[in-house]
Amino acid sequence: MNDQTRWNMKYNERLQDLKLPHPNPRLQNAATYLTGGKALDLACGLGANSMFLAGLNYQVEAVDISDIAVHYLRELAVKKNLNIHARVCDLTREIICEKNTFDLVVITYYLDRLLLSTVKDLIKAKGYFFMETYYQSLSTDGQGMSNQYKLQPKELLREFADWTVIYFEEHEAEERQTIFCQKR
Ligand SMILES: C[S@@+](CC[C@H](N)C(=O)[O-])C[C@H]1O[C@@H](n2cnc3c(N)ncnc32)[C@H](O)[C@@H]1O
Repeated sequence: MNDQTRWNMKYNERLQDLKLPHPNPRLQNAATYLTGGKALDLACGLGANSMFLAGLNYQVEAVDISDIAVHYLRELAVKKNLNIHARVCDLTREIICEKNTFDLVVITYYLDRLLLSTVKDLIKAKGYFFMETYYQSLSTDGQGMSNQYKLQPKELLREFADWTVIYFEEHEAEERQTIFCQKR
């Protein structure tokens, strides 16, 4: 089964259960820095973060491999009159966006290390990057999801060492690593 089919099945189930995601709480906490402009939500899923950002006056481009998720987000954006352009995109193949375009790029719970250098190019000088996903915490090492899909401890700090880090957290029990940083 390919990634698109797998994620479409998950979203079909989730939409029936009405278990809809909330915006990421750490992204919400960064709201004082989020003053609008152009934002890109990569692997946006059902788009809770995109909708939150559109509510903060961002013009949001949202991409995901799941056409079910993208269709859901498009419909909701129209219904709520939000400035979100959602499209299907396989991030392992292409992201067609110009360099130095975005004031903010967000990635939550999607890890593709090859994408990070592209992301750095897409963000304008003084623009922001927010990312949160699982990491290999010492307390839960070896359990659950394969380590292949998890960050190394402090990996995002190393990756963005030449950016201004505004917030960084590793939550051991929840196995999540979060960074919010600004391009110099
Ligand atoms: C765990 S979900 C996270 C969704 C959302 N960012 C959130 O935090 O709620 C991972 C997302 O990555 C998407 N995805 C998986 N592989 C992808 C790919 N190759 N290109 C684009 N999106 C992909 C899935 O469809 C899914 O929406």
